[in-house]
Amino acid sequence: MSHRIILDVDTGTDDAIALMVAALSPDIELVGATTVNGNVHVPVCTENTLRVFDHIGVKDSIPVYEGMAIPMVRPNFVRESPSLIHGEYFDLPPAQTAKQQQHAVDWLIETYMQSDGDITLVPVGPLTNIGMAIQKEPRILPKIPELVIMGGGHEVGNMSPSAEFNIWVDPEAAKLVLNCGRPIRLVPLDATHRALVSTEDVEQLRALGTPAGDIAAMFISTRISGYDMTQPMSRLGAAPVHDALCVCAIIDPTIITTKFINVDVETKGELTDGRTVCDVYHRSKSEPNMHVAFDADAPKFVRMLLEILGRRR
Ligand code: BDR
Ligand code: CA
Repeated sequence: MSHRIILDVDTGTDDAIALMVAALSPDIELVGATTVNGNVHVPVCTENTLRVFDHIGVKDSIPVYEGMAIPMVRPNFVRESPSLIHGEYFDLPPAQTAKQQQHAVDWLIETYMQSDGDITLVPVGPLTNIGMAIQKEPRILPKIPELVIMGGGHEVGNMSPSAEFNIWVDPEAAKLVLNCGRPIRLVPLDATHRALVSTEDVEQLRALGTPAGDIAAMFISTRISGYDMTQPMSRLGAAPVHDALCVCAIIDPTIITTKFINVDVETKGELTDGRTVCDVYHRSKSEPNMHVAFDADAPKFVRMLLEILGRRR
């Protein structure tokens, strides 16, 4: 069965791999991509997304809509200097294809309102576009069958000791989206850090000899150097590819192991702003509201990347 999805991205090296997995997998129909401020400024996210689609030959079939440039409530989070893990503009030729003219938030609303309720929403960046769409047109909610979200962390933070980047950038949007009442699968750092991709895996991706394999190897090499330098994982020479794990979980849900628990977002914490508060021991009176991944099958993840990124369009 093919899953219809919309991918909301802040492209970003791991977003790029998520986009390629979604565009090339025979099990996914990628209806469109929306971009949001996060890893890089939103126009750069859009250009990077278009460059990736051009490179793998899907440029005419998957529309790209640009979205929010700043968070919903807070005055600003805009990354000022390129990170070692994402850089800024991808080292690929300038995009030949243009973005769509409509704003991503309006396109999301229009697309969901006209849909049969069969498009899974997959945000793998800050939740600003999704929060704005829900706030502007709450009637889209019953049309969203499920959200599969990369974000948050229980035992791990990467932006602060408490918080993960996507949630930390726009905590108010995240709070609104995580409490929206629709079915949610959350893929936090606890799972993505269990699915590391190594230098040896990069060599296998490169050896595929496909456009997607080539640039996945380039992006993951950059990620491994960046992680080794700034946030070493359980072993050197390996890095998480968060957003791609999230997309792979749609194709094969057994790639992650989840618990059904209540999660909320801290928006007022002095030390814990943007933390996903995961009620793993059912200490609150709140009902479970999402399936949260705490583990992932790393060998299966690498096998899926090799199989899907070995494909051509
Ligand atoms: C998340 O933050 C971004 O930097 C990545 O693209 C991923 O979506 C991981 O914390
Ligand atoms: Ca991302």
